[in-house]
Amino acid sequence: MKTSDQPEPTVFVIFGGAGDLTWRKLVPALFDLSQDRSMPTNFSIIAVDRVDMSDEKLRRRLQDGVKKFSRHGQAKGSEWGEFAKHIHYQQGDFKKLQTYKALGEQCAKLEKEWGAKVHRIFYMATPPSMFGEIPKYLGKAGLARDRELARIVIEKPIGYDLESALALNATLAANFDESQIFRIDHYLGKETVQNILAFRFANPLFEPIWNRRYVECVTITAVEAVGVEHRGGYYDHAGALRDMVQNHLMQLLCLVAMEPMVSFEADEIRNKKVDVLHAVRPIHRDAVHQCVVRGQYGSGWVGGKKVPGYREEKDVSPDSQTETFVALRLFVDNWRWQGVPFYLRTGKRLTRQASEIAIQFRGVPHQSFPIESTLDWQSSRLVMSIQPNEGIVLRFQAKHPGPKMHLRSVEMQFDYEDAFAVRSPEAYETLLWDIMKNDATLFMRADQVEAAWRLLMPVLNVWAEAPPSDFPNYAAGSWGPENVQGLLAQGHSWPLPTELVEHAPKRGKKS
Ligand code: BG6
Repeated sequence: MKTSDQPEPTVFVIFGGAGDLTWRKLVPALFDLSQDRSMPTNFSIIAVDRVDMSDEKLRRRLQDGVKKFSRHGQAKGSEWGEFAKHIHYQQGDFKKLQTYKALGEQCAKLEKEWGAKVHRIFYMATPPSMFGEIPKYLGKAGLARDRELARIVIEKPIGYDLESALALNATLAANFDESQIFRIDHYLGKETVQNILAFRFANPLFEPIWNRRYVECVTITAVEAVGVEHRGGYYDHAGALRDMVQNHLMQLLCLVAMEPMVSFEADEIRNKKVDVLHAVRPIHRDAVHQCVVRGQYGSGWVGGKKVPGYREEKDVSPDSQTETFVALRLFVDNWRWQGVPFYLRTGKRLTRQASEIAIQFRGVPHQSFPIESTLDWQSSRLVMSIQPNEGIVLRFQAKHPGPKMHLRSVEMQFDYEDAFAVRSPEAYETLLWDIMKNDATLFMRADQVEAAWRLLMPVLNVWAEAPPSDFPNYAAGSWGPENVQGLLAQGHSWPLPTELVEHAPKRGKKS
């Protein structure tokens, strides 16, 4: 049965169909969508890769991924069997036109069989070295031509720097219209990240104080307890600035700082986000060391386990200069945010995982309470907790019970799971569904990617010229390098580790 929200008939062509992303993220998400009846009635997943593999072998491997990673968990045999019928393997070289001709024929065949126009989604789940090649072949094979039906999906890294990002975007643009290009930043698919717009613009309560008159500073944190895991080879050439700041943290900054959108149109929202990047004060070469701190983890203890330092990780150079931690102080030079620091930080192998945005409000303009009432005073703060806890916490002052006027900080909490009693979909479910529905709101436009690179290039250039002399400069399991405090203006603080715990909505309350 087709529901009105169901996408049109679709063929998913996944280049790199035998790879990790397909196994870990894409197919589990497509399976979850199918279980929620959100897949089209007619769909096909064609996994393309170079290795020799049968449909059966591929399906067995993908079933293993679904068991491990899908939200619906262990699929019943019949559910998996029903879904797996849609998966096919095509062996092919990404650099041979023949591969693409065969795909074109397959799509034409399905179109005939289904008696309907087929949406064709070409997903590049390959190593980045293929990103510049596949679009050219799709173009040559005539598979990019139909602006309505053909779409291309690309994951980060979108370029290694501004120059390569411009070149990649040019290759994409030579073969596809911008409206056909879906650049994924998976952070944008997270419910809590989408909720930033809902919270800001569906509640008249907060917008009037969301500016320099009331906000003292904004802290954006996305830290992890994990190390580089099995991705040392990639990461050692990327580092935290490219891996997290250029994309995920910049997206969060845009959502927190942007002006209200006029409508919920994809380009209207993306325009407002790009405006933020254009307003960020450029980081002058000479100021890089004052505005940005980098770090690399040494060995230490995380979650009670001894873990190796970054330089001892697999596929990492033993004298690597790659940063696994970055903190920045940025300013958004416009009427709303003039003078308000935005502190951003991200890192691997920190005490624990936490992504959150903290808006710290200014103190009261006049302190009328006696000094002894306010010894525990902490400024009001709103924390949007993105993960692992999903919710919002507002900290404010209240009178402590007792005969005296004694003020203490208290918290009001909104917890997604408590409020909605459903488990949030995985980011990839949302993103894949949006691609099928041809909705580009949650995807990065070329100009946004380029603006983010432009902003960070002085940092990358200065760092390349002056390699760090103090790496490793933080122990695994700590909260990063000590000199990160130097970025803060007087009276500002990074949310302390304990505050992150206290602020996070509490889990496990339900029986
Ligand atoms: C990816 C980075 O984009 O995001 C990884 O490449 C990082 O290094 C990951 O671990 C974090 O995403 P999430 O959704 O697991 O917090």
